[in-house]
Amino acid sequence: MSRKSAAGKVGETAAEKRGKQAAARKLRKDVGDTKTIPTPPKDREADLDRAPKWEPRYAGSGRLKDKVAIVTGGDSGIGRAVSALFAREGADVAIVYKSNKADAEETAAIVGAEGRTAILVKADIGKTNAGKAIVDKVMSKLKRIDVLVNNAGEQHPADDIRDITPDQLQRTFATNIFGMFYLVQAALPHLKKGAAIINCTSVTMYQGSGGLLDYSATKGAITAFTRSLSENLIEKGIRVNAVAPGPIWTPLNPRGGAPADKVASFGETTPMKRPGEPNEVAPSFLFLACDDSSYMSGQVLHPNGGTVVNG
Ligand SMILES: NC(=O)c1ccc[n+]([C@@H]2O[C@H](COP(=O)([O-])OP(=O)(O)OC[C@H]3O[C@@H](n4cnc5c(N)ncnc54)[C@H](OP(=O)(O)O)[C@@H]3O)[C@@H](O)[C@H]2O)c1
Repeated sequence: MSRKSAAGKVGETAAEKRGKQAAARKLRKDVGDTKTIPTPPKDREADLDRAPKWEPRYAGSGRLKDKVAIVTGGDSGIGRAVSALFAREGADVAIVYKSNKADAEETAAIVGAEGRTAILVKADIGKTNAGKAIVDKVMSKLKRIDVLVNNAGEQHPADDIRDITPDQLQRTFATNIFGMFYLVQAALPHLKKGAAIINCTSVTMYQGSGGLLDYSATKGAITAFTRSLSENLIEKGIRVNAVAPGPIWTPLNPRGGAPADKVASFGETTPMKRPGEPNEVAPSFLFLACDDSSYMSGQVLHPNGGTVVNG
């Protein structure tokens, strides 16, 4: 049945449209009508006006039975949906988060409800010693690492390159790409033949994004890193792939990652004319994590609402 009539936009119900408009009004009230949002008011997933959909959409089939996965940024958004789906498929999950303990505890409960073990690891992945600290904790509690999902990221909008401070530039690169190096360096001695690494890049790497110069540059680095690391590790039997989401409804954009006026129409310029949900992205991570993708490495999947990109 078409959902067009109620809301006037394909794929969006009237309730969803009202929810988005209310979210934009509340955001403007919280932070004022400024062009960008220097300090996000809150970033808890539960504080968003419309809850992101993280729930797995099908029964598990043991695709990750008794495996152990590390998911950075596993507490909210895409990482929460990935953690939930991996647990549904039989994995124990180490949820790495930076500061959002409430979201992390909720995601741990979601993993627990699937009958799997979750451990929480609080870390700033951009710090040079974080990768080792994370891996040490995972090995001491869960004893092995089969899947490493490098998903955590940060994003700060700036239309003028001169507004990007050295601090912002260094932090964005530290979180989005340096953290991947530190974690892979630390995890590598524990990754066995058959292990999988999945990195989160972005459609902004393929399309460019004039208001996200530093962020999209890190995503370009992530795709190059994915291809190079794949070549580097392939003889060890470790596959390395990436996912490049389009606009997905998570805390990232409404809580500081996009100007308020863009949040109100978030995702509407995609061919599907709507943002994606985290549970529409998580299956790409699952596919790349399990043996279904045993003949794929160095590749990128594109859950992005129909935008055609190459590579
Ligand atoms: N949403 C989109 O439209 C979209 C599109 C393309 C790509 N992506 C990518 O998808 C990934 C997940 O983002 P999301 O949309 O799901 O947003 P999100 O829910 O805000 O997730 C971002 C996560 O990264 C964590 N994080 C940020 N900086 C960190 C640091 N220095 N150390 C450790 N963890 C850190 C955050 O932890 P806390 O919660 O504790 O702060 C949070 O869990 C990111 O790489 C993002 O670039 C998103």
